[in-house]
Amino acid sequence: MTNLRSWFASELTSQTPPHLTAPTTHDVIVLPGSQLGLGSLFRSIAGPGGTLLIESPTYWGAIIAARQVGVRLVPVPTGTDGPDLVALDRAFNDTGANVFYAQPNYANPTGAQWSPSTSARVLEMVRDHRAFLIEDDWAHDFGITTDATPIATRDDSGHVIYLRSLTKSVSPAIRVAAVIARGPLRRRLLADLQAQSMYVSALLQAAALEVVNGPGWQNHRRTLRKKLRTRRDLLVNAITTHVPDATIAAVPPGGLNLWVRLPDEVDLDRLVKDTESKGLIVAGGDEWFPAEPAGRYLRLNFAGPEPAAYEQAAVLLNEALTQQ
Ligand SMILES: Cc1ncc(COP(=O)(O)O)c(C=O)c1O
Repeated sequence: MTNLRSWFASELTSQTPPHLTAPTTHDVIVLPGSQLGLGSLFRSIAGPGGTLLIESPTYWGAIIAARQVGVRLVPVPTGTDGPDLVALDRAFNDTGANVFYAQPNYANPTGAQWSPSTSARVLEMVRDHRAFLIEDDWAHDFGITTDATPIATRDDSGHVIYLRSLTKSVSPAIRVAAVIARGPLRRRLLADLQAQSMYVSALLQAAALEVVNGPGWQNHRRTLRKKLRTRRDLLVNAITTHVPDATIAAVPPGGLNLWVRLPDEVDLDRLVKDTESKGLIVAGGDEWFPAEPAGRYLRLNFAGPEPAAYEQAAVLLNEALTQQ
């Protein structure tokens, strides 16, 4: 591949069935990380004062970006198989929204992956409502027991806007991502992005391209898969063994996080502070809810540097819980 835009396009093309028209290099805009793309997409599609349907829970950075743009967030409950389809359809009907932001593969924070039938139904719904799906495929390279098939590969009518990031799978030092959008929206988006950051350094793009084109890339992805599996299983085992009050609704098929439910009476802020004072950093789940949290949750990351410490971390977490 001769340039990074072509590489991003080819990633979708390779998974697109032959009867559908795949995106081309022309449809790709390279971004300095996908976080910038989120704000730009929310501004270009919903616009200030407009409505954005959003999974709940979802990525806190998307919630912040949407609030900064001034869009109204309408949460759609999401679970281990993806969004509640009845609630999604109702939300489209009740609000007249023209956009739904979602993470069909290995969502942050839950790690959930939508089933093929849920993905097909959401695509159908988005088309029926003449709306857009913003598919944030940030964890494309973090499959553990499954692979990620983007919904964008099942759409050639321009209803799916696709975001893919390399900042975590290549390196945080190479902050590069892409948005793939077809039709008039691409032009609007490009104008908005250029107003903020003009373009992404050619040097950075060349560095990213060298990595993903290089002989080590597929090997790196395979190694990542194995490492994530080991870490995920270690963490699940540590939590199940040492934190009897914690519930894991589903072991994630991919991603970097374990989403753990705690009893409703837990004081989450206090728990986070208490664990921090013991040297254990955990993320309280409230920030991942665009409105009222559906319960007390923790997001436990298993990408960190010390998997050997998970057992001890689970013991510390349980101590902090039982001291409440
Ligand atoms: C779901 C999701 N989308 C987007 C981003 C932003 O990624 P980037 O580093 O490409 O800006 C993140 C970062 O954690 C994320 O979790």
